[in-house]
Amino acid sequence: MFSHLISMLIYSSDRTHILNQMSRHHIAQRVASVSRLLNKIPAADRAFIATSLSEPSFRIILTTASMLTYSDTTAQTLEIKRFLTEKFKPDTIGPVFIQINNGRTTNDTLHTGAAATLKVESSPHQIVKITVQLRDKQWLNIASSIPESPPFWSQRAIFSISLMGLLIVILTVWVVRRLTTPLREFVHAAERLGKDVHAPSLPVKGVVELQQATQAFNKMQGRLQRFIDNRTHMLAAISHDLRTPITLLRLRSEFIEEEEERKKSIATLDEMENMIASTLQLARENSRTEPNKTVDISALLESICLDLDDRGLITERKLPDRLLYKCRSTSMKRAFSNIIENAFKYAGNARLQMTQKKTAIEVVIEDDGPGIPATKLQEVFSPFYRLEPSRNQQTGGSGLGLSISQSIIHAHGGEITLSNLRPKGLRAHITLPR
Ligand SMILES: Nc1ncnc2c1ncn2[C@@H]1O[C@H](COP(=O)(O)OP(=O)(O)OP(=O)(O)O)[C@@H](O)[C@H]1O
Ligand SMILES: [Mg+2]
Repeated sequence: MFSHLISMLIYSSDRTHILNQMSRHHIAQRVASVSRLLNKIPAADRAFIATSLSEPSFRIILTTASMLTYSDTTAQTLEIKRFLTEKFKPDTIGPVFIQINNGRTTNDTLHTGAAATLKVESSPHQIVKITVQLRDKQWLNIASSIPESPPFWSQRAIFSISLMGLLIVILTVWVVRRLTTPLREFVHAAERLGKDVHAPSLPVKGVVELQQATQAFNKMQGRLQRFIDNRTHMLAAISHDLRTPITLLRLRSEFIEEEEERKKSIATLDEMENMIASTLQLARENSRTEPNKTVDISALLESICLDLDDRGLITERKLPDRLLYKCRSTSMKRAFSNIIENAFKYAGNARLQMTQKKTAIEVVIEDDGPGIPATKLQEVFSPFYRLEPSRNQQTGGSGLGLSISQSIIHAHGGEITLSNLRPKGLRAHITLPR
């Protein structure tokens, strides 16, 4: 817009300049013709011809003395003078005086004393006054006006600038969108990768630089996937291989004579077995073999509650009638039951509520238990992290439940946060994108 405005200004000033130059040439031409004509006719007849040729923008008057006594020395007057002297043979032209005034600032009349005045039409851009001596010592005095050229801010200019502006805006919006859409996808992909390394890789498109960035991104994702898969496999292999020695130890423990000692050993081995089972579970979650399918997620939660009901653990629940959702249902079931089971384990009660939002499904699981200290709300998601580190028998868990739930929810692009309730209790807030 700015450059368009500047070029319009340059163009407009050029146009004014050329128009004025042409007008001055035209005046000089007319002065030459009139003086040549008047020189041809006897002095007595000249007055009549002069009055007939005179008009508002080209005043002519004949006098015995010149109405101008000096010439301006600007480039413009010199140009006219040169033109006039070229038109006449040196011997046919007498003295010439030329003055050019700015139409606005100076008096636009041509006069000597009170005898005669030459007035031209009002508000011109410039007034050119020329006096030429004719034969017989008579003076031809001419005042002519150069009209103001149309202003730069004409309707057409405004229209042209507005149209240009509009086109530029439309084009810019289009180009910027085209450039940023793949970038936005890129940002989404980067965010998704943080939650789920197995997310599908990005399609390579857009400008060359973006294509290269996308390829690099996909390569990085591939490497990350392989890295995580390797570690998961290793974890699974170790956990699996530990089972055989544990079984052997269990057999041997059975032969311990002392009753108390035997019970303790077997309990420790049970705990170890539990931890290994959970670790295997986590490993399986991360390698995710289960396919995605659409299920009624409301019914899925209801089935978890029914199972708990059988064990006498009644969950207060508020679930929609039917809510279809595409997910890995077995994993999803595990994610929710871990959290609900925690509520029963640590608080003794559980409230479940599921609501359907425009872009997400929200699940809130609350209890009236002791809650978790504010500083530990994040840490409890770490594998093997327990608030009560003794791993005692009543609540005896391995500390993997929340880790597993979180990794399942993240793998679905969702989010889980814990917060304490007032006066007491814990709330788990889960959102799953639709
Ligand atoms: N509803 C809750 N109220 C109070 N503390 C909780 C609650 N849920 C979890 N916690 C605390 O967070 C810790 C981690 O929970 P997580 O489910 O990961 O492990 P766990 O229950 O100890 O073992 P696992 O679930 O593997 O059997 C728990 O040990 C417990 O201290
Ligand atoms: Mg748990």
